[in-house]
Amino acid sequence: MDLTLSPAALNSLLAGLQEAQLALRAALHALGLTPDLHGQPAWPFASRIAGEMLVMDAGHARRVVASAACLGLAVLALAVSMFWRRARLGLWGLALAALLLAPWPSSNLLLTPAMPTSFHASRGGFTAEGIVRGQNIYEQHCLRCHGADGRGEGPDAPGLAMWPPTLNGSLLWKRMEGELFWRVRHGLQGRDGRPTMPDFERQLSERQVWEVLDFLQAQAAGQMLKESGVWAYPVRLPDGPVRCLRGNRATARSLAGQRVRLAVPVAGAPALADDPRLVTLQLLVPGTLNAAADPECEMAEPAAAASLSLILGVPAGQLPGYQVMVDRQGWLRAVGKPGQAGWSEDDLVCRSGARPEPGSAAPAGDGLDGLIRRMDAEPVRLLRGGFAH
Ligand code: HEC
Repeated sequence: MDLTLSPAALNSLLAGLQEAQLALRAALHALGLTPDLHGQPAWPFASRIAGEMLVMDAGHARRVVASAACLGLAVLALAVSMFWRRARLGLWGLALAALLLAPWPSSNLLLTPAMPTSFHASRGGFTAEGIVRGQNIYEQHCLRCHGADGRGEGPDAPGLAMWPPTLNGSLLWKRMEGELFWRVRHGLQGRDGRPTMPDFERQLSERQVWEVLDFLQAQAAGQMLKESGVWAYPVRLPDGPVRCLRGNRATARSLAGQRVRLAVPVAGAPALADDPRLVTLQLLVPGTLNAAADPECEMAEPAAAASLSLILGVPAGQLPGYQVMVDRQGWLRAVGKPGQAGWSEDDLVCRSGARPEPGSAAPAGDGLDGLIRRMDAEPVRLLRGGFAH
């Protein structure tokens, strides 16, 4: 029997498991059974459900779903038996059979070691300012081992007991953000218990750790795009102050719900025409002249350009002419290079892998219509640390 969970079903399963664990944490916290740690309730157990195994092993995911269904059936049968006395024996038998026949997953696949901050949500906010502050922290404290581009080839790396991993691949997306936070604060140890990476508990504040992690993600996105031409793992539009002609939007995040075309103006070129399908957000690079006089929305703080330069892997001076298409959920989806005329589906560099429905790709409208159709048909399903974001 090959019942593979669809990406949407897997996502719902992961989101459900994450919610259940968060609810358990909240309940224990409300009862005073788990303390506050860095402003969020601590996870009191030594293990958590391994979302990453559910993503990697389809058979395991199926067993978890089937077992949960059997468990649900058993609970239901027991509940009904309390009221329907005449059928009691039959219902107990049904509950017993469901529990015996459930294909229970093995506990070493189901669980993985956890840390007190495993379920902590990032306090970095992925803001442009925070990313830039994180970059300074990185240069001061991390670059010597992890290298100028995050590939682990810093000047001190050859002398270490263990070569630092590249931070530009899937690593940052595979880990839960609370666990990355814990590792940077408390350092890492090898199998023999000896430290492989120093701790930064005294040198960096909580906020600084979240910010350096935001920076690492921005840098990894840019290196990924530069090397492979795609964002294999999704990145968000960095938040920051915006000024809009209409409405009272004040931050990039508040544009969520609409498609946004982030555009860096080119000196001397005519302003982009407004398009009813999206909001145009002009991003100014310090020193850029001839910005459109009245853009729909504008981001002008220097940190915005600096963070976009990291995410695209392009020096700030080469940003003019770049455009980035942001979907309604705030994910960066497509990149338009300087000089490119119009959009096409091929500009989609953050894909979910799902193919559009056959027939839905009928070439109606212009290239932007096609791109929008693909963006909407392939929503980003972020499985961070195996858990839906
Ligand atoms: C003395 C060298 C050194 C310094 C300084 C250093 N690291 Fe590391 N880092 C390492 C090594 C070695 C590893 C791999 C350790 C292991 O897997 O046991 C590592 C692993 C990591 C990981 C991967 C953790 C995981 O979940 O696998 C992250 C993230 C990281 N470092 C971030 C940072 C940040 C942020 C800083 C600066 C605040 C920093 N490192 C400073 C050497 C260093």
